[in-house]
Amino acid sequence: MYFVKNANFKCIQLSTITVFIHFKLRGNTLQLRYYELRDVTLKLQLQTLRGRIVLLLPVACRYSRKHAKMPEPKPFERLPENVKPKSYNITLQPNLVKCVFHGSEEVELEIKEATKHIRFNSVDLTLRDIKVTLSSGEVLIPVSTEIVAATEMVTLTFQETLPIGTAKLSLAFDGELNDKMKGMYRSKYTSESGEDRYSAVTQFEATDARRCFPCWDEPALKACFNMTLVVPHDRVPLSNMPEVSRSPCESDPNLQVVKFAPSPLMSTYLVAVVVGEYDFVEDMSADGIKVRVYTPVGKKEQGKFALEVATKVLPYYKEYFNIAYPLPKMDLIAIADFSVGAMENWGLVTYRETCLLVDPHNTSASQRQWIALVVGHELAHQWFGNLVTMEWWTHLWLNEGYATFVEFLCVDHLFPEYDIWTQFVTNTYIRALELDCLKNSHPIEVPVGHPSEVDEIFDDISYSKGASVIRMLHSYLGDKDFRSGMNIYLTRHQYGNTYTEDLWAALSEASSKPVAEVMSTWTKQTGFPMISVTSHQDGDNRVLTLTQQRFLADGSVGDNSQWMVPISISTEKNPSKSINEVLLDGKSTQVVLESVSADSWVKLNPGTIGYYRTQYSQEMMAQLIPAIATKCLPPLDRLGVFDDLFSMVQAGHTKTVEILKLLQAFEDETDYTVWSAVHNCVARLNQLISHTDFHSSFASFVRKLFSKIGQKLGWEAKPGEKHLDTLLRSLVLGQLGLYGDEEVVAEAKKRLAAHVASTNTLPADLRSPVYKTVVSQADEKTYDQMLKLYREADLHEEKDRISRSLGATRDPNLIQRVLQFAMSAEVRNQDTVFVIISVAMTAPGRSAAWAFFKKHHQELVDRYEGGYLVTRLIKYITENFATEEMAAEVEAFFRDHQIPGTERTVQQSLETIRLNSAWLQRDQDDIKKYLLEL
Ligand code: BES
Ligand code: ZN
Repeated sequence: MYFVKNANFKCIQLSTITVFIHFKLRGNTLQLRYYELRDVTLKLQLQTLRGRIVLLLPVACRYSRKHAKMPEPKPFERLPENVKPKSYNITLQPNLVKCVFHGSEEVELEIKEATKHIRFNSVDLTLRDIKVTLSSGEVLIPVSTEIVAATEMVTLTFQETLPIGTAKLSLAFDGELNDKMKGMYRSKYTSESGEDRYSAVTQFEATDARRCFPCWDEPALKACFNMTLVVPHDRVPLSNMPEVSRSPCESDPNLQVVKFAPSPLMSTYLVAVVVGEYDFVEDMSADGIKVRVYTPVGKKEQGKFALEVATKVLPYYKEYFNIAYPLPKMDLIAIADFSVGAMENWGLVTYRETCLLVDPHNTSASQRQWIALVVGHELAHQWFGNLVTMEWWTHLWLNEGYATFVEFLCVDHLFPEYDIWTQFVTNTYIRALELDCLKNSHPIEVPVGHPSEVDEIFDDISYSKGASVIRMLHSYLGDKDFRSGMNIYLTRHQYGNTYTEDLWAALSEASSKPVAEVMSTWTKQTGFPMISVTSHQDGDNRVLTLTQQRFLADGSVGDNSQWMVPISISTEKNPSKSINEVLLDGKSTQVVLESVSADSWVKLNPGTIGYYRTQYSQEMMAQLIPAIATKCLPPLDRLGVFDDLFSMVQAGHTKTVEILKLLQAFEDETDYTVWSAVHNCVARLNQLISHTDFHSSFASFVRKLFSKIGQKLGWEAKPGEKHLDTLLRSLVLGQLGLYGDEEVVAEAKKRLAAHVASTNTLPADLRSPVYKTVVSQADEKTYDQMLKLYREADLHEEKDRISRSLGATRDPNLIQRVLQFAMSAEVRNQDTVFVIISVAMTAPGRSAAWAFFKKHHQELVDRYEGGYLVTRLIKYITENFATEEMAAEVEAFFRDHQIPGTERTVQQSLETIRLNSAWLQRDQDDIKKYLLEL
């Protein structure tokens, strides 16, 4: 066995996703086919048998990213293309008492090349009675059934060759209704009579349909699904399509057989089934679609808000895309145990209860806004994702980035008072930049194969960077061309699958702009540029010099990556308008701004739309800073200047003290979104210095920063006040309470006591800040009081609010109690990680949560068997450490305990910890001096 160093090979890129590599070794040509590899170097292992080459194995392949230290991708192969499914007839019979299910299916196959093998996906299912019926009527039984757990594949081998044409595969299978929230699983609820019961629910994205029925579980293998459910008479059976018939079950009088209409061509990950007890509210949308919101029994009133949103959203999208919603019904359903927030199954969207249900007395304004966004997001997928689907998970961002962009379009249309586009910048855009400045970030389009790699890319790059670059593109093209391009794309590819390039082609056609050229620089490269700006005066004109370079969080000079950057520029004369637009398509360019005087400020990126950071020359910055305090700059530009400067601080280009000085310019700020960016910065600084001996002077700095706005807003909502002021009050009081403002702490305690005594119920918007404030000072008695509130709460949102406040305690004994509570049967698995994360947000809690994780990691991993909850947990409990020792400890732990699907997250955390450590070393003396002298 030896390594080929420079074998003579030729690499042919056949399509965007398949690479064939031909090797010429001693005159013999060998072909190696590997999916999803682009820009990679392959390290090959050559196996020889008595001097003859028998196998070339890629033992390693590395993406051409110089800095990242990612583990090597796991070997992976997609299903062969010789046999494809055309339609499935599936019967599922969940047993809601024994928590198992039986199923059977007939799959109509198209055999494209004569073969003796049929391969498909199946995991954790027992297969029985497998046979294939040829179009001639001949029935074939496989001579072997090879089940490989590692690849999640089954290969049937037949004695005879199956000829080209159609054939029917029939089989039966059994499985467990698991408690891992994937595949077909059980979700627990309490019946009105107080009995514990289970419903059967599915969650298939990305690769778990194969846990419910054997299938060709890849997004490009679309087929028609005919679903049949065998269920007890008193349970509600739901699937993607409307019910078409019910008949008694011959073998069991307690059961009935419910058939659903055939689906259009669709991907397996969008198939869904729910069987349980539910109530619903119903309405017809203006475009004639029957919309229902299913809720737990007795709570149908709580579905009304989502129903109203959904019935308005469907016609809005119909008009926006100029394509009608293709199914006859749209169900939205709240599920008591659900791993993610919501899932866009075609025609049957599933939600966490907190992402769907509104109780007018107990739902906060921010949760209501979130529900509107989630509904908008999932319904956008009905077109973008369901009707047109990515060819492979590499293009997942097409789904998630796009739906994240559109959810804001739709909420802006329905609720203009939310000013939601402004919130996009803090919720989405800044989040993306913060992750994407790491060397361990990844390109939007990322080669993935193995299911655990697929799970890991449901991250802020696919969602938030994806949405941010689409927003930038939308602004570059203009709404009209963007919309018509979308229509071309959706119409051309309906019921089909696409690559990212297909979207660019449609948008280019509509706009006549070089979309693919511009956008591939954003989707195929990791990171984003920093645009450095200097200016000089030339008579009446201002001349700007713009230079780009990759922005890296450690302040190092980036690699040679270059982007095509649409840049707009505003000036003091008309602060909210762009006076100049250029496309920076090289390293550097000059822009002449006519009639702009030397004393006017000049700003890049008005509206904070371009996905880049700006570094101004000192003189330009000095002109911009006063425009923040005077609010001459519009809110998003105040925020943009501030957040860009903060990123320069993190990267060590600027001293932290500069941001502390600038923060004080915000004392008179009134805009919610600007305050949330300020809050984000304060929270980062707080995490960084939470264990230092000058933390208390930082706390008084923050109290002062928030005190003016706190006084202005007060505790009571003004009649008819703006939505954003309601959000702002809860943010500001929360900060004042957390940093120990005596008046706020006293008032919070008083208000909680009245709430507990039911003499004065706290409005939902104030509960989180009050709970956290009180818990941060809590003794055992107060803690028990909070637990009592938790136990009495009926609305899941309220339970979340309480359980996620418990971590605010600083008392070591209570911290241990919170961690135990998180793992107890009182907290659903879907919520456990968020309770642990809440503990990790304080300095003493952080070490305790990490120690707890080390001790219980196996139990946690087993609870979820992968998926994104563990990944989230690892991120939030580790990334706020700030010493090299902790980086080394975290690194060693995950080296010894590898958890598939969390590799990249661990690398990102390690990088962040080391960045924190360097930042603290660099600036802590200065910060301390500045704070103590204030
Ligand atoms: N398709 C996703 C659900 C999903 C997420 C499946 C991760 C598998 C892994 C869905 O459309 C989604 O994006 N849900 C979000 C909510 C959304 C409003 C951002 C979620 O669950 O967090
Ligand atoms: Zn989504």
